[in-house]
Amino acid sequence: MPVPVAVKVGALALAAMGAYTWFANAIPQIESRPPQELSLEGNVPPAQLVRAGEQIFRTKGACETCHKIGERGTRAPDLGGVGGRAATRKPGTPAKQYLLESLITPGAYLVEGYPNIMPQVDRPPITLNRSEVWAMVAYLQSLGGTVDVTLEDIPPTVGAAAAGGAAAPAEVKIPGDPKAGEAVFTTKGACVACHAAGKVAGGKVGPDLSQIAKIQTPEYIMKKILDPAGLGTVSGFPPGVMPKDLGQRLTAKEYTDLVAFLLTLK
Ligand code: HEC
Ligand code: HEC
Repeated sequence: MPVPVAVKVGALALAAMGAYTWFANAIPQIESRPPQELSLEGNVPPAQLVRAGEQIFRTKGACETCHKIGERGTRAPDLGGVGGRAATRKPGTPAKQYLLESLITPGAYLVEGYPNIMPQVDRPPITLNRSEVWAMVAYLQSLGGTVDVTLEDIPPTVGAAAAGGAAAPAEVKIPGDPKAGEAVFTTKGACVACHAAGKVAGGKVGPDLSQIAKIQTPEYIMKKILDPAGLGTVSGFPPGVMPKDLGQRLTAKEYTDLVAFLLTLK
């Protein structure tokens, strides 16, 4: 059976992106992150830990872009009461362990009705360090549960990306032209009909993409354009509406430029 041209273009573009990603990752630390980091050790009073976690939730964690507390967010579940609920999510798994897992391997347990789109929070773009993950688990426990997480509960491998060194993936640089990509967004790609993106006012059929690079990986963004249904449907939005033929309609250059533009949205 001949491979349809569309699929070939899509696969080729994806392979090209994969190669760029690999290339970017092969160069250690192309861009360093701002040094503003939380570093905690030893006996930190729970109240202090919870405060730190709450702060990170609102700022560096970018959690609020997807989650609200006491109110359903657009992309993610309401985290009100999650500290209590966490103890019953997976029989035999204590609350602190479930919460840690939900941050580090979000796909291991999916809250019913939601797709597997939460990023690993100790990897780019969010890149929390080990202390910050610790504080975050404490904060989540404080939402309806009891704070009993200690630093020893967080494996030393957690936050390796933030700690730098060989384990740290460099920020992915896409060799496209963001300015040209913005034009693809508003004209040929017609993304603007359904999406707003920073300064670009757009339709509300799909999610506002103004912060997309702050909360999602380049891999997610690249795949979503070529195979929107393959990653599930963002909660709160209609399924099957995002066009499936973008990989056929865009040239490899247009696609690369478009991705470069989307990666500026943070
Ligand atoms: C791109 C959107 C997005 C971002 C950013 C995000 N999450 Fe999530 N999160 C989700 C989705 C979707 C789910 C439900 C699917 C799943 O279980 O993985 C989820 C699930 C969770 C759960 C499990 C909730 C339960 O009831 O069992 C916790 C806890 C959580 N997220 C915490 C966080 C924290 C803390 C941050 C910030 C450091 C964060 N998330 C950032 C989308 C996101
Ligand atoms: C006809 C409307 C429509 C058009 C045109 C469209 N999209 Fe979408 N898009 C959606 C909808 C609806 C969703 C959310 C549901 C889903 O996940 O399929 C979405 C989801 C997304 C997401 C995931 C957002 C998130 O929060 O995780 C990205 C990224 C995206 N679109 C990019 C694009 C780009 C880039 C274009 C143009 C090349 C485009 N879309 C064109 C409707 C559209």
